[in-house]
Amino acid sequence: MKAVILVGGFGTRLRPLTVNTPKPMLPLVGTPFIEWMLTNLRDQGIDEAILCVQYLADRFRIALGDGSRLGMKVHIIEEPEPRGTAGAVKHVAHLLDDTTFVFNGDVMTDLDLQAMLAFHRAKKSQLTIALTPVEDPTAFGLVETTADGQITRFLEKPKPEEVTTNMINAGTYIIEPHLFDDIPANQHYMFERGLFPSTLQKNHPMYGFASDAYWTDIGKPQTYLDVHHDIINGKVRFALPGTQAKPKLWVGKNVTIAADVTFSGPVVVGDGAHIASGCVITGPTIIGAHTQVGAGTAITASVIWQENHLGADVVVSHSVIGHRNRIAAGVKIHNGTIISDDTVIDGDNSLDRGVRVWPGTTLAKQSISFQ
Ligand code: GDD
Ligand code: MG
Repeated sequence: MKAVILVGGFGTRLRPLTVNTPKPMLPLVGTPFIEWMLTNLRDQGIDEAILCVQYLADRFRIALGDGSRLGMKVHIIEEPEPRGTAGAVKHVAHLLDDTTFVFNGDVMTDLDLQAMLAFHRAKKSQLTIALTPVEDPTAFGLVETTADGQITRFLEKPKPEEVTTNMINAGTYIIEPHLFDDIPANQHYMFERGLFPSTLQKNHPMYGFASDAYWTDIGKPQTYLDVHHDIINGKVRFALPGTQAKPKLWVGKNVTIAADVTFSGPVVVGDGAHIASGCVITGPTIIGAHTQVGAGTAITASVIWQENHLGADVVVSHSVIGHRNRIAAGVKIHNGTIISDDTVIDGDNSLDRGVRVWPGTTLAKQSISFQ
């Protein structure tokens, strides 16, 4: 069976992390999210995937090739311009001839795909949408169903007063191929505002498959951190890299950790990392491969990618640091700060309250402080 994965979005809400790295290629505990997703599909019996790419398409080609490294067949197809979620599938419809899974490429879920397929077939559904409960449906597609799951209404990004259920479109669909004929060719067209409402109007059987599977949209800074916390707290199936040195500590190869470093909570340290004397690392935290952490530095509930250099007595908490940054001694990084790639943060800077530092920025001494 084939799957289409929609990975064309710009990842705007995750900028500047997504300036150099498309959202589905963002590392989750050191592995690009899309690799977790493909492996999860393969392990659930889907071994051919078509990626509809747009933004930073080469990053997918370089990382995934033809998929053989992952034991799959992967096609990477670039749209001439963003065609929208349904338009992207139309653009690859020549590769599809049977019942097809479609996935939003920014959702982490361990949904049981074979159970969803069995439901789709048992109901003789033409289009089945996985549903998940959320607290606030206004950022999602609201889906109303009858008691046996037949969809009666689809409303994308409802206003607060329009919310009638907490069940939303979880971003996994099963679609019968004849419906691809209903998507206009060569134009921007959305499932959410186009094909779903129009299929409903035509009275084609459309069902919602509700489940309590793990589900997170990784597309916002807070959820990007949350998903790491869930992974290393074991809430979603994920093979953590390295070997388990202590109950809540995983370390890669060629790591050096000074004898007096304190770890608490779950922490993953990537290959070749170096953690100097007196550091205090509080999980859930990921320290990426080949990152150097200077003496006396404290890191709490943060995600640090590869090849960073943190000086002595740096403080990092609840923040994300991208690739190859140089952070001088004593710098403070707090509270949802995002530092992307290749920055130089000189001494006496204090970053707080969701500050976002763009790739290649140099912050001279005493450039930023928060009261
Ligand atoms: N190839 C391609 N081309 N992909 C696209 C395009 C496009 O023009 N536009 C969006 N995508 C991809 C995005 O990369 C993402 O993986 C997926 O389609 C959904 O787009 P988002 O921009 O992330 O949409 P959203 O999060 O606001 O809402 C969607 O997902 C929610 C679940 O997370 C909707 O499907 C909602 O109904 C749903 O609840
Ligand atoms: Mg999204």
